[in-house]
Amino acid sequence: AAKSDRKTVKGNGGETHQTAGGEVPTLTTKQGVPVADDQNTLTVGERGPAALEDFHFREKLFHFDHERIPERVVHARGFAAHGYFENYAPLDKLTRAGLFQKKGQRTPAFVRFSTVAGNKGSGDLARDVRGFAVKLYTEEGNWDIVGNNIPVFFIQDAMKFPDLIHAAKQEPDRGFPQAQTAHDNFWDFISLTPESMHMVMWIMSDRTIPRSLRFMEGFGVHSFRMVNAKGESTFVKFHWKPKQGMQSVVWNEALKINGADPDFHRRDMWGAIESGDYPEWELGLQIFDEKFAEKFDFDVLDPTKIIPEEEVPVTPVGRLVLNRNVDNFFAETEQVAFCTQNIVPGIDFTNDPLLQGRNFSYLDTQLKRLGGPNFTHIPINAPKCPYHTLQQDGHMAMENPKGRANYEPNSWGGAEGGPRENPQRGFHSYPAEEAGTKQRLRPESFSDHYSQARQFFISQTEVEQDHITDALVFELSKVDTVAIRARMVSHLRNIDEDLAKGVAKGLRLSPLPRAADAARPTRQDLKA
Ligand code: HEM
Repeated sequence: AAKSDRKTVKGNGGETHQTAGGEVPTLTTKQGVPVADDQNTLTVGERGPAALEDFHFREKLFHFDHERIPERVVHARGFAAHGYFENYAPLDKLTRAGLFQKKGQRTPAFVRFSTVAGNKGSGDLARDVRGFAVKLYTEEGNWDIVGNNIPVFFIQDAMKFPDLIHAAKQEPDRGFPQAQTAHDNFWDFISLTPESMHMVMWIMSDRTIPRSLRFMEGFGVHSFRMVNAKGESTFVKFHWKPKQGMQSVVWNEALKINGADPDFHRRDMWGAIESGDYPEWELGLQIFDEKFAEKFDFDVLDPTKIIPEEEVPVTPVGRLVLNRNVDNFFAETEQVAFCTQNIVPGIDFTNDPLLQGRNFSYLDTQLKRLGGPNFTHIPINAPKCPYHTLQQDGHMAMENPKGRANYEPNSWGGAEGGPRENPQRGFHSYPAEEAGTKQRLRPESFSDHYSQARQFFISQTEVEQDHITDALVFELSKVDTVAIRARMVSHLRNIDEDLAKGVAKGLRLSPLPRAADAARPTRQDLKA
């Protein structure tokens, strides 16, 4: 019906005008003024200058001129979908969080997958960590698990994040991305940062070239807390396990796919959801208490360490299903704002120094990226439960407090008085005991940078080990500075001697550089 209502007439320049009528709506300006002609600027005379009073022209161009917002400073290239989380069984012993209280309870979810280093227009098959960010619209507010597809991270302290990302992204003078070309800055930084060696093993493995976003795991990385109604806290690590299984491509395939179809991953996810083949992940928890954590010879607050699943198995607690593509990429995928700080009653932080820094960084960057403090009013970011704040004004305020009261306490009763705090339902921070001297010092418990790297490498099959060796040879062969190649091999000698020899051979590096000094520097060394 809509089609037949659309009349087509030719304009006096020969251009096609499709006109409104019947069910075809009338085009308007943003002020709602019906538009008669959307193709010809208002001019003085037939060939004459354009008239400044052409408000429709000015509005159309002005809006177009302002379409771009800054891309994310990391994880710029992403793809997202809607779905739900379904809880398997009550977890009330562990957490008071509402979404875990009933069997079969469903919570709406929005999940954005991303690469980290590439800009918005980069290829899907880059060798890179993948972001796995989950927003759960719970009945007690939004809870974001802002994770990656690798369970550890490069650095132990958030202070180093800008350096890591500067080194990984384009070099500031030449500006071209480091992906398939020179890698000197990235490997320079990594080779000077021994704490990154465990992560290096994971990123050189096939995990960083997934076959599809549907075939990869997700991890919350940090230790978090769950807190039950009695106020008892347990440590947890979050795992997303794909029901589709795990699959990667090999490097040759990645290069070809990136050349032939740089949108391969997003197309795969879109197509699977459109055809009803909904991808699913199980949420698993590693659950342990602080006493148990003290038995490990590493620190559970160190984000460069995993907790071995043989020691603390992953308990499945629910499933995540993605069953709806977005209506609009910009409105949802681009404007969504995940933040590690978005937690709900029953979930809490630990002192992982990377997590503490992240809790500052996300909101800060989003204030700029999304243009001010009211980005929570954008539908994709707004909670789906009732919410009432006394915050007001600022750019783009859509939801100022209703009525007279924008402060509390106040003398106005009932609805007129506005919202009030609620000690029963409200969020209480876990009252952890904290004390100590103010200082800048990495704890001794964070000092072993090689053992878990070694455990990861030797846990791989022979084929997978060969892929890691080949990836290191390929990557380091793009490094022009021989001293950086040698410094990397000297770290590899602390991980696995055969790996170090294989990489040195591939790089024609002879003699084998001596092993890196694995001893932790003392304060005295640092002062000297
Ligand atoms: C995105 C900072 C570590 C996962 C971002 C963004 C920033 C940031 C500024 C852009 C956010 C936006 O514009 O909306 C940091 C800092 C880190 C850190 C300072 C360490 C100190 C991590 C780690 C993980 C992670 C360890 C994984 C566990 C993500 C994901 C996104 C992201 C998945 C993309 C979210 C989305 O899809 O919109 N990070 N990050 N980041 N980060 Fe981190």
